Amino acid sequence: MPVSLSSALEQFLDALRCPTCRSRLHPDRGALRCPAGHTFDIARHGYLSLLTGARAISGDDAAMACARHRFLSTGKYLPIRQAVTRLVADAAQGTVLDVGCGTGYYLAGVLEQRPDARGLGLDASVRALRSAARAHERAAAATWDVFRPFPLADGVVDVVLDVFAPRNPSEFHRVLRPNGKLVVVRPTGRHLAELRSHVSAMVTIDPAKEQRLRRVLHPHFEAVATEQVEYRASLTRQEALDLVGMTPSARHLSRAEIDTDGRLPDCVAVSVLATAYRRR
Ligand SMILES: C[S@@+](CC[C@H](N)C(=O)[O-])C[C@H]1O[C@@H](n2cnc3c(N)ncnc32)[C@H](O)[C@@H]1O
Ligand SMILES: [Zn+2]
Repeated sequence: MPVSLSSALEQFLDALRCPTCRSRLHPDRGALRCPAGHTFDIARHGYLSLLTGARAISGDDAAMACARHRFLSTGKYLPIRQAVTRLVADAAQGTVLDVGCGTGYYLAGVLEQRPDARGLGLDASVRALRSAARAHERAAAATWDVFRPFPLADGVVDVVLDVFAPRNPSEFHRVLRPNGKLVVVRPTGRHLAELRSHVSAMVTIDPAKEQRLRRVLHPHFEAVATEQVEYRASLTRQEALDLVGMTPSARHLSRAEIDTDGRLPDCVAVSVLATAYRRR
């Protein structure tokens, strides 16, 4: 039986473009199709499969997506989500794009605060998108590789979110309206420090990262506000294991390799920067 189009996806049809020929897409028997016949299936789990052919290799696998979903459900990153919603509070109501959306936790938070907004999460991980497609009734989700031109028309987005995810500044700029806003969240060197020192496979955060971010965003964006979100979070053993399991560098470790001496930290520093940018 063909999968029906969710209302969240339907709300996004005017903004979506065929990734192959840039034409508009129309619903057709459980898929979206452009006039040239390029066809993109809607998965049983509700997300749109725009990434056909070669898969991006960097998306989260099933175990990582589950660990992320479980950890975020605890609310331990709620202060980060609240900082993101504060930073977009004065942006125009409308269209929110979450790039590298994972399970859709941050997108859902923004949509909750903005009753008139619609959202789209893009991610290379089909397992993460299963959750993202259900994260909020106004959140659509689609497979995409951040490093390719986005399957969206020019200037149709009011807010781009990029939370701990890969970035494509020129595409962020192209899809945003002239007065649109970009919000980028990234860890500082203190983020999860106790866990990083315990699990050697968790890479340390490169101190040059901030400079690099400034350099790549500068041609397209100007920072308007930054919030530093810093607190200590208590951790159960499962939460500590999930935080490690969400981390690409440590994703293949077994429980025994992560918790060699049975002494995973029961408290950890959360330390991130969230910056809002306007388009140049
Ligand atoms: C650290 S997670 C952050 C997820 C989400 N923003 C959050 O904070 O919960 C990074 C996300 O980027 C996705 N990702 C990695 N490389 C990607 C790519 N090239 N294109 C699209 N998504 C990608 C992963 O699948 C993962 O969901
Ligand atoms: Zn097409």
